[in-house]
Amino acid sequence: MVSMKEFKEKVAVITGAGSGIGLSIAERCAFEGMNVVLADIDQRFLRRAKRKMEKLGASFLTIQTDVSKLSDMQILAEKTIEHFEAVHLLFNNAGVSNPKYFWNYTLNDWKWQIGVNLWGVIYGLHVFVPIMRKQDTECHIINTASIEGLLSGSGPGGAIYGLTKHAIVSLSESMRIELTQTKSKINVSVLCPGWVSSKIFFSEAHRQEEYRDSDDETFDDLKIEDSTAKFKAIKDVSPPMACEDVAEIVFKAIRRKKFYIMTHSDQLLKAGVELRMGEILRAFGK
Ligand SMILES: NC(=O)c1ccc[n+]([C@@H]2O[C@H](COP(=O)([O-])OP(=O)(O)OC[C@H]3O[C@@H](n4cnc5c(N)ncnc54)[C@H](O)[C@@H]3O)[C@@H](O)[C@H]2O)c1
Repeated sequence: MVSMKEFKEKVAVITGAGSGIGLSIAERCAFEGMNVVLADIDQRFLRRAKRKMEKLGASFLTIQTDVSKLSDMQILAEKTIEHFEAVHLLFNNAGVSNPKYFWNYTLNDWKWQIGVNLWGVIYGLHVFVPIMRKQDTECHIINTASIEGLLSGSGPGGAIYGLTKHAIVSLSESMRIELTQTKSKINVSVLCPGWVSSKIFFSEAHRQEEYRDSDDETFDDLKIEDSTAKFKAIKDVSPPMACEDVAEIVFKAIRRKKFYIMTHSDQLLKAGVELRMGEILRAFGK
């Protein structure tokens, strides 16, 4: 597999491109002279992103898309091809989080987060990989997991989030094996950011109507104290990274064909991964 080094006039599709990491990646794609397709559920975010892209003089398209709906993702693929006739970079990036103790999650909490974080990626692959295979040109898929997809759980309060992010890491690892074995022109990377300054803590605003619970079905158990404490603790050791810096790291990684894309080099996160691996390896000896 050859790595993508030249991006000019190629086509990038980014889900969750209305804010945070996705928006910075979109801006970076525009800077590289790419044709950019920005997909997001939030119309307001998309309008703001549109203004930014216009200022950059980018060639782009914004498409309101709910990644948890196959029909929306099919339309995203159709419109991408209709306008730009190809797809070279796919960023399966949209994600949400909703911290609660696992026993307090409602079924809608499970369905919503798994729907966006995991099915969003699955639908992305389902609709775009056949197009990439048919094109038979160098392509790269970047699935956004999280450092929480490599740690032992994602707590307190991140059981569903961690589940989806571990699944994305595993899925990407399987994709790599099969793409390599078949000498495919499609590359894959899994992006595992540490803490990044974005709107992820306001995910609730993007919960679709069909996944909403009535007030008496929800529990405000640990949301405030534990989550705040957790993120304050992380912040003290590792301040949040700017989204533009993540985009920079991602593009370098695509050029170098790196599979695992780590954003943070601080020892605490590395130690967390080592702790998990060490415990697993030690369990073999018992
Ligand atoms: N911010 C962090 O610290 C961090 C760390 C690790 C991983 N991540 C991951 O990075 C990705 C981007 O998140 P972010 O931090 O930029 O957060 P963000 O909230 O700023 O951006 C997420 C975007 O996804 C969109 N979105 C939500 N539901 C959607 C849906 N159903 N369909 C389409 N779009 C939808 C939102 O409107 C928003 O624009 C996520 O997958 C997240 O899990 C973030």
